[in-house]
Amino acid sequence: MSRTYLDNPAGTQAPGSVVRAISHYMLHNSSNAGGSFRASIETDRVWLRAHEDMATFLGASSAAEIVIGQSMTSLTFHISRSICHGFQPGDQIVLTRMEHEGNVGPWLEIAKDKGLEIRWVDFNRDSWQVEPEDLAAQLSDRTRLVALNYASNMTGSVNDIQQLTRIAQDAGALVYVDAVQLAPHHLVDVQALGCDFLACSSYKFFGPHLGVVWGKEAILTSLYPYKGRCVSDASPDRFETGTPQYELLAGLSATVDYFAELGTECGGAGDKRALIARAYEVQRRYEEPITNQLIDGLQTIPGVTVYGITNPNRIAERVTTVSFRHDTHNPESIATALAGAGIHVWHGHNYAYELARVLNLPLEEGVVRIGLAHYNTQSEVERTLNEITETVAKGG
Ligand SMILES: Cc1ncc(COP(=O)(O)O)c(C=O)c1O
Repeated sequence: MSRTYLDNPAGTQAPGSVVRAISHYMLHNSSNAGGSFRASIETDRVWLRAHEDMATFLGASSAAEIVIGQSMTSLTFHISRSICHGFQPGDQIVLTRMEHEGNVGPWLEIAKDKGLEIRWVDFNRDSWQVEPEDLAAQLSDRTRLVALNYASNMTGSVNDIQQLTRIAQDAGALVYVDAVQLAPHHLVDVQALGCDFLACSSYKFFGPHLGVVWGKEAILTSLYPYKGRCVSDASPDRFETGTPQYELLAGLSATVDYFAELGTECGGAGDKRALIARAYEVQRRYEEPITNQLIDGLQTIPGVTVYGITNPNRIAERVTTVSFRHDTHNPESIATALAGAGIHVWHGHNYAYELARVLNLPLEEGVVRIGLAHYNTQSEVERTLNEITETVAKGG
């Protein structure tokens, strides 16, 4: 049976070049770093190149600003400890109700450890975004950190991070942005955003299972590092505990190369960053109409409710992730029926736990979540809509 990959918000398919880079490293250079022999020297190069490539990918000013680790969640748990090292009891952390648990759990835990206060900012039920005035209302002279979601992994809506960051920083807070769901679809420019930290995960943008956190160099070097005594104090080494996943770092560079090659194929010119920007531009132009096709189609199916922006004129304010429920068919039954037709989608709250909770969705059921990538087609969307229509017509 052919497979249709619409489970992209949970993880994307990797191009052959990424897989080959991983296996090439393992076949020819597998070793640890810092030795005098050739494979180890190559391993040092793979490590450095991955950090440089991610700096280019995110618009960072240097490789020292890029921390790479197991996943966004584990990096955030780790770095949150350093960020909050000097926070005092009663200091405040502001979280939004649009966050994935990866940008909630670490802050709730450190707040418990250190007696910090958590304040929540809701999202607007019409715009599906965090509104500046709602953020401002939760800030005080005790706010030390604001965690912001760039694009929701349930509704797909994109927040105005530049504006929200400015408001938070004016109140004296650091800003930690979760760009895990944004990075697969839109170019990230950390300098333009002005935030202090930004996290993403390469398996969401056609790469290997790794997490990446960018931080302003001056801040990264000033934080208290939780590390072994003999580990270098330089950034990012001070945050990359233990032996890195070198083979995946080789795959990460190949992932950035994939974007640059796509940019070249699509008529881009200039340096690597310009080529990556071109790839995103073309990808977006391709993804927007099929996302509107998906939303429009779902809305014509009786009993379906879509959670998120549905106005086609606001397509630029959302990514391709579309979540819905049906009046009589639970999300699991729809996802299972689609799986029977070779169509991969997700069901559940998908760790958008707070969002599902405030929308009063049954937490054990959640939603059906479909997320498109640039390898999906109009006919795949059409087939999926037909399968959903047939499934719900069968009776609950
Ligand atoms: C918005 C968002 N943030 C964070 C995460 C966690 O990423 P990781 O799996 O790398 O920990 C996810 C994963 O789905 C996500 O969608």
